[in-house]
Amino acid sequence: MKFFLDTANLDEIREAASTGILDGVTTNPSLIAREGNDFEDQLIKICAIVDGPVSAEVVSVEAEGMVAEGRSLAEVHPNIVVKCPFTLDGLKATKLLSDNNIRVNVTLIFSAPQAIMAAKAGASFVSPFVGRLDDISHEGMALIADIVTIFDNYDYGAEILTASIRSPMQIVEAARLGADICTLPFKVFLQLMKHPLTDSGLHQFLKDWEKMQVTVQK
Ligand code: E4P
Repeated sequence: MKFFLDTANLDEIREAASTGILDGVTTNPSLIAREGNDFEDQLIKICAIVDGPVSAEVVSVEAEGMVAEGRSLAEVHPNIVVKCPFTLDGLKATKLLSDNNIRVNVTLIFSAPQAIMAAKAGASFVSPFVGRLDDISHEGMALIADIVTIFDNYDYGAEILTASIRSPMQIVEAARLGADICTLPFKVFLQLMKHPLTDSGLHQFLKDWEKMQVTVQK
């Protein structure tokens, strides 16, 4: 399973990338707006930190505008993946961009039919939002299970990018199901490595070591 970071914050991306296990980044207009910097500059800085796909979302709502934006975003850096929302126009733009060898991540996927249509349009990534489904009492992971089964039946070439993640167990579940990627908020990235027994075990090891140093010195 690949790990992407779901943020536009450079410090968070730097910290996660320094572990050597970060495979990419996803952004969206809300995340970019939170940083308050020029969109393209921010993308260039992100691409300089992480060597992997970096999703940058279009904000036009009509296919023509999405394609124009997508083309110019793709020129910012070879690692940029154009993010298009799942709408009729988003689907048209996905087809046109992918036909021109521009990778597209279709976002705001909330159903299996949407994932199938995005994949058929040539998307390189489909992004089902599990957390937002859970928020409205739908089972987000059931959608991942459906999409994994469907994509295993065909040869679409789209990767399943589990998005809108809220907790570490969602990543474990997505991995069990065989999703290709999880995109994690930085907070969840940190939570994922935490275990109280690791902390208490290390604390005890260091305490015992310290005690031995004192005894040896005497
Ligand atoms: C994915 O690409 C989206 O940016 C993201 O996962 C949305 O997550 P949220 O529902 O926590 O905003």
